[in-house]
Amino acid sequence: MAKNTLSFVCQNCGAAYNRWQGKCESCGEWNTLAEEDTSGSVPVSIRSKRKGRTFALESLAGKSPDAPRMSSGMTELDRVTGGGFVRGSVLLVGGDPGIGKSTLLTQATSMMARAGHRIVYISGEEAIAQVRLRAERLGLSDAPVQLAAETSVEDIVSTLSEGTVPRLIVIDSIQTMWTDTVESAPGTVTQVRASAQALIRFAKKTGAAIILVGHVTKDGQIAGPRVVEHMVDAVMSFEGEGSQQFRILRAVKNRFGPTDEIGVFEMTGLGLREVTNPSELFLSERDLGTPGTAVFAGIEGTRPVLVELQALVAPTSLGTPRRAVVGWDQSRLSMVLAVLEAHCGVKLSGHDVYLNVAGGLRIHEPAADIAAAAALVSSLVNAQLPTDAVYFGEISLSGVIRPVAQTPARLKEAAKLGFKRAVLPESARGGEASGDAGLSLNAVNSLTTLVAEIAASGSRRGESSAPAEKNATPARFRRGEG
Ligand code: TYD
Ligand code: MG
Repeated sequence: MAKNTLSFVCQNCGAAYNRWQGKCESCGEWNTLAEEDTSGSVPVSIRSKRKGRTFALESLAGKSPDAPRMSSGMTELDRVTGGGFVRGSVLLVGGDPGIGKSTLLTQATSMMARAGHRIVYISGEEAIAQVRLRAERLGLSDAPVQLAAETSVEDIVSTLSEGTVPRLIVIDSIQTMWTDTVESAPGTVTQVRASAQALIRFAKKTGAAIILVGHVTKDGQIAGPRVVEHMVDAVMSFEGEGSQQFRILRAVKNRFGPTDEIGVFEMTGLGLREVTNPSELFLSERDLGTPGTAVFAGIEGTRPVLVELQALVAPTSLGTPRRAVVGWDQSRLSMVLAVLEAHCGVKLSGHDVYLNVAGGLRIHEPAADIAAAAALVSSLVNAQLPTDAVYFGEISLSGVIRPVAQTPARLKEAAKLGFKRAVLPESARGGEASGDAGLSLNAVNSLTTLVAEIAASGSRRGESSAPAEKNATPARFRRGEG
């Protein structure tokens, strides 16, 4: 039987198939399968007569040295890596093209080079002149970073094996690298995998830290960074809305640190600026005085982050009302809407609902539930929420507001930024020493209470201000005055 080494490999996730098909069943992407010769990537099994060597088995207890780390000189970057780059580790930084990966790494490498480390920056994408131009723009031309525009992994490994071992090597990007050992074209899954493997081997052997840059692509023209995610020690994604200045670095996987920390940056004309107090940034352009906005006191990793949730609830002209959400979980929104409808008598089936997290942040905490609910009800009844209040608490399916972790940290951050009151779960008030933040605490135990409070404030304020909205207001909102 002839050995068939050709197969169809998804350029997004790396799944292999015997024949071509339109959709990858593994990741669900369309039109991402490409024919590849996978023979080179399959290691030839060598039959060995050698008897295995014996090794010592260890106990769980015992002293191991801490992972040796190198600070990048950027606090926000160090926060996400868990305190700096670990020697001999390989880190993948993924993100959309143009988001600022090269800028971030140029800044970090320059700072480390200035601190006296041997740092090598290999650009497979840009010519040396372009990289220099960027460094000039960032005011970092004098940093002793060693630069090359190369794409052959064998050449890179040979060059770097000479002289002292570099402390850090940046490969920008892994998709432009190619190795002689496989036949496929650069950018295909097989090439990207084989190149990454060779570089990872080099890192483990020499103790140099390597950062691989990977572009995220939707069209499947080049292999996505997902195909190397499982091979590297840490995966970081650099995110942000193209139109906004904020950039968020998030750890997706980290063998040497936490995965819930975020680093916040702002893209300026002079490169990326670290944002040490994200709350100030996210609240800097607040829309004071409009209904439908609530400030959520959240926690990102170890750091409290205050962010504004914006909701718009408007009568729909469609058969099926729209539910659109940016920066939060769609199913979480559906759940909050269902609880509002089932337990609080808030009918939203005739309304389009839009929810947006300001500033381009993505929230993963269930603690944002009541902030979202408050913003939604506020928009529905056209009643502005108090501008000096923060909201946090999880909503259960029964409409009860459940406590969340780290109440004191949330309250302290809110007090620091000048907020005067907090709407929070009942049980959180007594339990922890949360009163010393100096906020007035409005503890609510059920969503019904919160909805009634917002509705009452709305009907008190503007009987005449929103005649159109009155029809949309459920009967119970119009009733309860005082
Ligand atoms: P870049 O780092 O090249 O992105 P990536 O490597 O992720 O593809 O950044 C590209 C964008 O950043 C580009 O649109 C210009 C912008 N930029 C600034 O706004 N200010 C700067 O100082 C620099 C260097 C880039
Ligand atoms: Mg780049």
